[in-house]
Amino acid sequence: MTKIIIASDHGGFKLKNIIINYLKDNNIDIDDLGCYNEDSCDYPIYAEKVAKKVLESGDRGILVCGTGIGMSIAANRFKGIRASHCTDTFSARMARMHNNSNILCLGERITGSGLALDIVNIWLNTEFEGGRHQKRIEML
Ligand code: RB5
Repeated sequence: MTKIIIASDHGGFKLKNIIINYLKDNNIDIDDLGCYNEDSCDYPIYAEKVAKKVLESGDRGILVCGTGIGMSIAANRFKGIRASHCTDTFSARMARMHNNSNILCLGERITGSGLALDIVNIWLNTEFEGGRHQKRIEML
């Protein structure tokens, strides 16, 4: 397992910390790029930090905001990023198998922590299928 680059805004701060603890408990290295408290802040700043680090390192990333929507919109502005906003485990599996998702986006105000950790687990452990899907992601 590669390192996970992770960040949130204030709206995703609590869920980010739950995910960090889960990853650490499973011996997965993390790089926490903020935010570091619940003061109001701007999600595009954190999406950019994670997107750039994922692109330069080849690691995968997780972004959490209130809904997961702002983070996914912002991260997908970077060529080479395939950020998937997932609210269910089927989408998390398909995001890896078909889309080779390299950033998972979650919404703390949408998805409870139990489901969020299931989504994280499936997204982390599902491989890209390649084949016909490789051609399609190259078209993005
Ligand atoms: C912050 O209030 C909220 O707008 C943000 O966390 C996110 O949900 C944006 O998409």
